[in-house]
Amino acid sequence: MYHKDDYIGVFDSGVGGISVLRHLVAQMPQERFLYFGDSANAPYGTRPTEEIRVLAENVARNLLSRNVKALVVACNTATAAAISHLRAAYPGTIIIGIEPALKPAALRFPGGTVGVMATNATLREEKFNRLLADYGKDTRVVLLPAPGIVELVEAGKADSPEMDALLEPLLGPWRGKLDGLVLGCTHFPFAAAAIRRVIGPDTVLFDGGEGTARNTCRRLALEGLLRESGQGEVIFENSADDPMLLDLSRQLLEA
Ligand code: DGL
Repeated sequence: MYHKDDYIGVFDSGVGGISVLRHLVAQMPQERFLYFGDSANAPYGTRPTEEIRVLAENVARNLLSRNVKALVVACNTATAAAISHLRAAYPGTIIIGIEPALKPAALRFPGGTVGVMATNATLREEKFNRLLADYGKDTRVVLLPAPGIVELVEAGKADSPEMDALLEPLLGPWRGKLDGLVLGCTHFPFAAAAIRRVIGPDTVLFDGGEGTARNTCRRLALEGLLRESGQGEVIFENSADDPMLLDLSRQLLEA
């Protein structure tokens, strides 16, 4: 039996899920959040599906052993690879995932061209390919696997010359040619300034953080598990033994 005062567990392969956490905190300021970044094992997106599943299950088990009333998988890669397994393993628990925001982008630009930046793992999984089949019919969708960005964000270099240099060969050829660009990895919104510099001013950027926070809020309200009052709280934990990552986590939440 869960209690209103329990924590909302949030996790990602690293600090990327904080781009979702900031929407969760903005929409539910009275809630208590326990954020776990698995930076010791990041990136997830270059690993085989089975490995991602095992890593996500380990983190979920850890969080759910500690008075967590809902679990937010704030990682597109872990959601694509592992969410159905997590739901089967913990049938009584509210488990919310995130997927690339292709649906709002495609609905906004019927007949247009939309890019989807994500990890290799997200783009190859069946979950994303079902989304593509549903929303890639009337909109031209360009898949942009984007390795390397996660590592720079984890190193505190989200807005840096290194990020611009990494993005130029990937996005430069699409400058001025995309109506929309989906940031389909939770690390990527932190690189939005660099992405904007390279893709140009006219492309609309989409990310799934706000919608995921809305889903979480709605589910908790339906179950009567929202805290109505009290002081909100955010606790950061990280699997990497590096205090820099906890400092970076706090900075990114304020960003
Ligand atoms: N932040 C993650 C995502 O949303 C994955 C990054 C990674 O570890 O590759 O996909």
